[in-house]
Amino acid sequence: MLEVTGLNKAFIVRHNIFARLGHPDHVIRAVDGVSFEVKRGEIFGIAGKSGSGKTTLGKTILKLIEPDSGCVAYKGKDVSSFSPDELKTYHRQVQAVFQDADSTLDPRQKLNSILEEPLLIHHLGSDDERRAIIRSALEQVNLPYSLLERHPSELSGGQRRRVALARALVLDPELIIADEPTTGLDPVVSAQILSLFLQLNRERRLTLIIITHDLAAISYLSHRVAVMYGGKIVELIDGENFEKASFHPYTQFLQGITGSRMEETGYIDVHRMSRTTGQGCVYASACPAARQECFETVPMLRPVAPGHYAACFGIDK
Ligand SMILES: Nc1ncnc2c1ncn2[C@@H]1O[C@H](COP(=O)(O)OP(=O)(O)O)[C@@H](O)[C@H]1O
Ligand SMILES: [Mg+2]
Repeated sequence: MLEVTGLNKAFIVRHNIFARLGHPDHVIRAVDGVSFEVKRGEIFGIAGKSGSGKTTLGKTILKLIEPDSGCVAYKGKDVSSFSPDELKTYHRQVQAVFQDADSTLDPRQKLNSILEEPLLIHHLGSDDERRAIIRSALEQVNLPYSLLERHPSELSGGQRRRVALARALVLDPELIIADEPTTGLDPVVSAQILSLFLQLNRERRLTLIIITHDLAAISYLSHRVAVMYGGKIVELIDGENFEKASFHPYTQFLQGITGSRMEETGYIDVHRMSRTTGQGCVYASACPAARQECFETVPMLRPVAPGHYAACFGIDK
């Protein structure tokens, strides 16, 4: 349904004029040669710590950010070649729920207007039809109709997340990209939101890309998990094998299985290192198992087992 091939997006961070005398501009490879595909009906999880490029990847898929190179294809067609009509359809069928969901809900509007807005933008439905669609979306996220006359500030954090999801659902999407859908929620409310995603996937066959740094959530939900570090997918594994059969030292570090020299390096330094050397594994300077070739050659994603890939020279051991 969605194919991402060799996607790249770099940000150039300019130093001020004085600092620039001694330092060249800093290039952050936010998304660095990312390829994967998502099948219809799949829940595809993207895991990784803050700064690994997850949000940039999501926004590039949504065409909110233009990639420097590489391709995003939806239903077999390159999204950059879409006509204005196709793009409109794409922006209806592929919806986003962002991590700052709360701030995307206009505090001056009542929920009814917030939920009606996407339908008006896409010129969908008569007054009566829109009312029915909004009610059905509220039912799908288990919120009572009585909230329609309320403002976002009158809702709990969990209810606001449900509204953000309902706002995506009114357009009857085929794919939802949810970026950190449970960040800032307490564990009980998080679990409710996650089971809601699962329910939407099972009942409506809604395809989902769930971006999160919450590993428990991702292994519970996802059919497949991509682990990102330094803008790259370092491991791709079935959700059911994620906890017991992860391979990459970074994944194992996230899972608390192995240590890391991460604390000393941090992700910014890793980006800086890959900028200066332009070669080697993005994780090499933090990896406890790193050897010479890890600093010299970029490891490609290669099969570890059927359906399981890792970008690590440790496979050759
Ligand atoms: N607009 C931007 N300008 C400059 N750097 C950016 C911008 N957006 C993201 N970055 C950088 O790109 C990297 C990846 O960021 P992001 O995609 O937000 O990661 P994540 O969502 O995994 O936390 C980070 O180093 C971040 O600072
Ligand atoms: Mg993010």
